[in-house]
Amino acid sequence: MCLAGNRPFSLYYANANGSDNLLSEQYTSLANVHVHDKATQGVRLDIDALIKAAPADSDIFVCGPNGFINDVLKLSAQQGIDSERLHREFFTAEPIDHSNDGSFEVEIASTGQIVSVGKDESMLEALEDNGFFVPVSCEEGVCGTCITPLLGGEADHKDVFLNDKEKAQMDRVAVCCSRAKTPRLILDL
Ligand code: FES
Repeated sequence: MCLAGNRPFSLYYANANGSDNLLSEQYTSLANVHVHDKATQGVRLDIDALIKAAPADSDIFVCGPNGFINDVLKLSAQQGIDSERLHREFFTAEPIDHSNDGSFEVEIASTGQIVSVGKDESMLEALEDNGFFVPVSCEEGVCGTCITPLLGGEADHKDVFLNDKEKAQMDRVAVCCSRAKTPRLILDL
């Protein structure tokens, strides 16, 4: 995207050993693409230093194993990086704790129809059972495909797609996995 748009970027690609490298030479030959091979270099990629060196007006994108992403997010937060500058794409979701899930209602804003969501079903399942189909992909809060505008009520966000600021805005919700803190949510459907 940055290459196509001729926008400045630096890419750091970390792997445990060289044989794990999946980047083609088309990319590794670029001056601003840096491949870090832990086996050869003997140390882990210095995430902390890279975050410190990132220009203040830059965005930070990270994808990879959950532990790696969480380290980047934690170190960024420690350095006061605004969550709006952080973009991440998890490969898989951490298991979601549903032990305290309760039932709630969803109001369909366009019709006023009320959909009941039982404690053992997802909002997505309840919507589909009532003829409302929301585009989905991962169904575990990772991809953002099912994000639906939220017009009322307070969501109990369980996804890892929205950042903290977006979650606090309470204007959208991942219906595949999130639930409600209020008895009713109003969705823009
Ligand atoms: S379908 Fe991927 S976050 Fe909901």
